[in-house]
Amino acid sequence: MDLTIVLVLGLSCLLLLSLWRQNPGRGTLPPGPIPLPIIGNFLQIDVKDIRQSLTNFSKFYGPVFTLYLGPRPTVVLYGYEAVKEALIDHAEDFAARGSLPVASKARKGFGIIFSNGNRWKETRRFTLMTLRNLGMGKRNIEDRVQEEAQCLVEELRKTNGLPCDPTYILSCAPCNVICSIVFQNRFDYNDQEFLHLMEKFNDNIRILSSPWIQVCNNFPVLIDYCPGSHKRVLKNMDYTINYLMKKIKEHQESLDVTNPRDFVDYYLIKRSQENHTQSSEFTLENLAITVNDLFVAGTETTSTTLRYALLLLLKYPHVTAKVQEEIDQVIGRHRRPCMQDRSSMPYTDAMVHEVQRYIDLIPTNLPHEVTSDVKFRNYLIPKGTTVLTSLSSVLKDSKEFSDPEKFDPVHFLDEKGNFKKSDYFMPFSAGKRICAGEGLARMELFLFLTTILQNFNMKPLVDPKDIDITPVTSGLASLPPTYQLCFIPF
Ligand code: HEM
Ligand SMILES: *[C@@H]1O[C@H](CO)[C@@H](O)[C@H](O)[C@H]1NC(C)=O
Ligand SMILES: *[C@@H]1O[C@H](CO)[C@@H](O)[C@H](O)[C@H]1NC(C)=O
Repeated sequence: MDLTIVLVLGLSCLLLLSLWRQNPGRGTLPPGPIPLPIIGNFLQIDVKDIRQSLTNFSKFYGPVFTLYLGPRPTVVLYGYEAVKEALIDHAEDFAARGSLPVASKARKGFGIIFSNGNRWKETRRFTLMTLRNLGMGKRNIEDRVQEEAQCLVEELRKTNGLPCDPTYILSCAPCNVICSIVFQNRFDYNDQEFLHLMEKFNDNIRILSSPWIQVCNNFPVLIDYCPGSHKRVLKNMDYTINYLMKKIKEHQESLDVTNPRDFVDYYLIKRSQENHTQSSEFTLENLAITVNDLFVAGTETTSTTLRYALLLLLKYPHVTAKVQEEIDQVIGRHRRPCMQDRSSMPYTDAMVHEVQRYIDLIPTNLPHEVTSDVKFRNYLIPKGTTVLTSLSSVLKDSKEFSDPEKFDPVHFLDEKGNFKKSDYFMPFSAGKRICAGEGLARMELFLFLTTILQNFNMKPLVDPKDIDITPVTSGLASLPPTYQLCFIPF
């Protein structure tokens, strides 16, 4: 037989096989494009613009569909109704974290972002409780963020009103807030130790967002056999874990159980209380990886949002002017902004919400996984299936937001100019996996932005109408294009 005929026959068999596997008899997966063997629908998806790819598929297949991003099916939920039905109404079923093999492998099942089961439950409960306890303590989280906001302004002052790219300074501040919460002290922005640490975290986020890693994540066999930057991910993480272990040792030596200073102290106390139980999840390894996760989850997300916010404020000076008017009326020039001010500043509050809605930082959320065979609408999603929820489709819903593709704080204001809440505000996701740092992130965004606008007039280098605000999509996140601006002190 001719080789081509053999190949064609072979491929058709595989195709039939994969079609047959889609229909296991116990119920069916949602509809979707026909997958090729092994590579699935990979060629029909633009890895650089997954958000748009999902929009295109949803037009054809509706709000619940199946894609094969490799050999295994992924169920995609598109639009508020489907996302809410899964994450909130069926919260327990959809609470597991889907695997991102490169990141998951490095954590060996520890930590909070990529862990599952009992370990995740206990670590998450502890983390939320400790963030709350630290929020109410003598030196509370708001103080720490306010202090950092002042340091941020001092650092911006050093630019002397000259053009600068704000990326670096804006990523120091959120990183320092995490430092302050987990190990008591912030660092100077020029501290070598601090720089190294940030470099390693940033390098990993850069690698994990690259299209190559998206390929590795969908074809995990590649991870062990192909050379590539994913090896650097492990090396960087070795460095950060070693560093964190050193810090944890210092904490063990100076621990005063009656006076916990920070997250690490609370954890060490919890660990000694649980020491009698054999199966305790509160091990030192889990602590190091959990702290690592807080840095990874809490630094780049917040700093990218701040950087995008400033770009939007440059593009729309009338919005900036209204916010500054509110700052003048409610806070004035001399007092530090505090969280209590927010309720008297509806326009500013709306602006911060609108920034988060508009920039749509994590368009397809982090992957989830179903914890058991789940009946969802008329489909059956087998245990362990990856679930992608399009946060983008919720944040850009045109029934909820009058002009979703436009940046306009009015989306979060009623006719009287009062702040208007929306159930569609899901940049932090929803349900059992909702961002564990939501409260902290919102505090940082409000305090950093108001403190900057209280102290500076921001000047763009080009006419606002020529400022490009189109996102540069990278793997998981939507980033603003690079830009420069001047901070002119009042
Ligand atoms: C603007 C800033 C931020 C945004 C937009 C954001 C968004 C998100 C999103 C979308 C998730 C995934 C939720 C899901 O799987 O359904 C997440 C998870 C998480 N975030 Fe944030 N986040 C931000 C800041 C922070 C900060 C400051 C912290 C620090 C405490 C943090 C800690 C976490 C943790 C620990 C998780 C994993 C939760 C889990 O898997 O149970 N985030 N975040
Ligand atoms: C989505 O569909 C539009 C129009 O059909 C097409 O131009 C675009 O390339 C598609 N985008 C992706 C990422 O598939
Ligand atoms: C836990 O218990 C073991 C043995 O009972 C002891 O050696 C160890 O130091 C204890 N660890 C902590 C953190 O208290």
